[in-house]
Amino acid sequence: MPITIPIRPAAAAPAARGASGLTSLPPLSVYVHVPWCVRKCPYCDFNSHAAEGEIPERAYLDALRADLEQALPGIWGRQVISVFIGGGTPSLLSAAGLDELLAMLRAYLNLWPDAEITMEANPGTAEAGRFRDYAASGVNRLSLGVQSFDDAQLRALGRIHNADQARRAIDMAQSAVSRINLDLMFALPGQSPRDCEADVREALSYGTEHLSLYHLTLEPNTVFAKYPPGNLPDDDTAAAMQDAVEALAAGAGLERYEVSAYARPGARCRHNLNYWEFGDYLGIGPGAHGKLSFHDRILREARTRNPERWMAAAMARDGSHIAETREVGKDELPFEFMLNVLRLKEGVPTSHFAERTGLSLAAIAHQLEAAVRKGLLDADPTRLKATPHGWAFLNDLQALFLN
Ligand SMILES: C[S@@+](CC[C@H](N)C(=O)[O-])C[C@H]1O[C@@H](n2cnc3c(N)ncnc32)[C@H](O)[C@@H]1O
Ligand code: SF4
Repeated sequence: MPITIPIRPAAAAPAARGASGLTSLPPLSVYVHVPWCVRKCPYCDFNSHAAEGEIPERAYLDALRADLEQALPGIWGRQVISVFIGGGTPSLLSAAGLDELLAMLRAYLNLWPDAEITMEANPGTAEAGRFRDYAASGVNRLSLGVQSFDDAQLRALGRIHNADQARRAIDMAQSAVSRINLDLMFALPGQSPRDCEADVREALSYGTEHLSLYHLTLEPNTVFAKYPPGNLPDDDTAAAMQDAVEALAAGAGLERYEVSAYARPGARCRHNLNYWEFGDYLGIGPGAHGKLSFHDRILREARTRNPERWMAAAMARDGSHIAETREVGKDELPFEFMLNVLRLKEGVPTSHFAERTGLSLAAIAHQLEAAVRKGLLDADPTRLKATPHGWAFLNDLQALFLN
């Protein structure tokens, strides 16, 4: 397993202020953002933009190459365990474009031979031939944004596809790759627990290995925030839906392993697990975020969000495509770490804290003690893991680690 790369003592420079003192680097993943969609969904706050006509694929791939080349010094020699091509709608890329993208990643990166390579696809842009071509280029996992199998719900969500198109997209995806994730949303306007269960039952009937189930949220600066849909299920109903889904998924052999993620044994999303385990990731493309560890610091960066400005800036090769680079302060690390790892139902080994933040566990001894005392954190000293009560009140548990 490609887990940690020891840092040779010879590479160690004198400790900088705020040095994190990492003795090894965590696994590294790569995220590639494709910022265009056919149409903007009214609930979506991702950095996605309605494409006017054809997407500027040539200019995008050239800018991506420039972005990647400029990022290489920060990840030199490190093995990459997973790639996630997300969006937006990556399935708007042509087969040749996606092939060029993956060839570029292989040429520049030390990609683990059986790296997980996921691509997101919108059922409204699915084509059997193109899915097979994506697979031939190296995509080994497809994530489909199904959202619901109810045509009225799909219309209310402003989706560009209906339920039958989603069903056909699942068939196409299944004949192209063996690893499939289906995205569903729940707590939709007017949705009853029975409607939600029907969606989940149908998703499970395809026998796919992974399901992501997202509670519809009204995000600021979206059409739904301005014109909220009526008749949204209340919190108790939504919680009951989630419990029912967990039971249904368990019956089909999929375990809930994270707040929104369900998988068969061995089918967890390696890429997302790396985020939740406080691993590293390089994010390239407009608006992509990254987290990179060095022996003496942990950096977060964000690319310029606007696709045209990002393309021009990346091609200028002067660093202006990076909107923000920020060292994560020692005082922020405990909360950032806990925010991620406590989303995992099984948590992480306690040793991860020191390995991935460079801080001693003693730095959070008081908070750990308080969390255990309140019944939110498991008392097992070998794992950092929420109790069932802590899982139900995750925000309260995570907030204990705010400085
Ligand atoms: C980037 S999108 C997935 C791929 C593709 N763009 C699509 O929509 O088909 C990731 C997923 O996030 C979920 N999502 C997006 N906005 C959401 C919101 N406001 N509330 C809940 N889930 C949301 C949807 O399930 C969506 O499939
Ligand atoms: S297709 Fe996906 S990324 Fe695009 S606007 Fe809709 S939810 Fe957002």
